[in-house]
Amino acid sequence: MLIDTYGRVATDLRVSLTDRCNLRCTYCMPEEGLQWLAKPDLLTDDEIVRLITIAVRDLGIEEVRFTGGEPLLRPGLPGIVERVAALTPRPQMSLTTNGIGLQRTAAALRDAGLDRVNVSLDTLRPEVFQALTRRKRHDDVLRGLDAARAAGLTPVKVNAVLMPGLNDDEAPDLLAWAIAHDYELRFIEQMPLDAQHGWKRDGMITAGDILTSLRTRFTLTPEGQEERGSAPAERWLVDGGPHRVGVIASVTRPFCRACDRTRLTADGQIRTCLFATEETDLRTALRSGAPDDEIARLWETAMWGKKAGSGLDDPSFLQPERPMSSIGG
Ligand code: 5AD
Ligand code: SF4
Repeated sequence: MLIDTYGRVATDLRVSLTDRCNLRCTYCMPEEGLQWLAKPDLLTDDEIVRLITIAVRDLGIEEVRFTGGEPLLRPGLPGIVERVAALTPRPQMSLTTNGIGLQRTAAALRDAGLDRVNVSLDTLRPEVFQALTRRKRHDDVLRGLDAARAAGLTPVKVNAVLMPGLNDDEAPDLLAWAIAHDYELRFIEQMPLDAQHGWKRDGMITAGDILTSLRTRFTLTPEGQEERGSAPAERWLVDGGPHRVGVIASVTRPFCRACDRTRLTADGQIRTCLFATEETDLRTALRSGAPDDEIARLWETAMWGKKAGSGLDDPSFLQPERPMSSIGG
């Protein structure tokens, strides 16, 4: 089991399948010039499945989430999903995607055993989408969302990040739209994980700002705050329910004490936290012929050293070297 010195047990594994992406969201990547991971350093499909197998069979992982970069850019994704679905016990499997390509792949992924998707969409306005992501792909995302719902990858969750001066006036519109389409909307506070290190605490839109904005149009009542547990989203019933909205306040209301995550990067490093400054290299062990139990022990040791919190509130906070696109959300 992946327990740390604070008694937290990691049961949720996030696997980044690639650091590449077909968008360039301003809060994540620079326009150009980001160095990609080198191909030989990336884990192969077989290596990924082997590590997930160890995690599920020997280390108590119950849920596997595939992330990126953009995980749909990895050609082997359906095959990986199918092999993970065959494990005992079978973990829950979900995908965090920008939605581009989902129109083509949703049904096949569902057939392979994927349970759910989280699609990132920050705006309903195509021109704002282009300003935020530097690409004209708004329509593709909307079509991908439709396809996910049609394929039964439900509940379809939508992640939105609000950026000052760009889409910070859109919270109520996004919520009305999500309700009309039966998507579960969650706002995520912008975190200091952009490759260009441009995040500023002063400028960011906080959970408080988002709730104030939503309350201009909706009545929000807290839903089971005491049961928030390890779920990072605090949820509210909208106009008495049944629809809900979530807010993930990683910066202003961190949930580190209940964190149940462990992360695997596309190049085979274990990260105990999004904001960790150290990693544990499983790739070298894998490639030098280490048996499963030795890899399991390395993973346990890595998690044992997990820090109490993200350190975001500490004046000495240092943004991790690795940008979000190569950590995975
Ligand atoms: N802060 C908050 N959320 C981010 N995401 C990417 N970069 C950041 C950031 N700096 C979001 C994406 C996606 C999920 C993986 O994380 O929009 O929904
Ligand atoms: Fe791509 Fe996601 Fe980063 Fe946007 S946030 S550039 S969709 S990896």
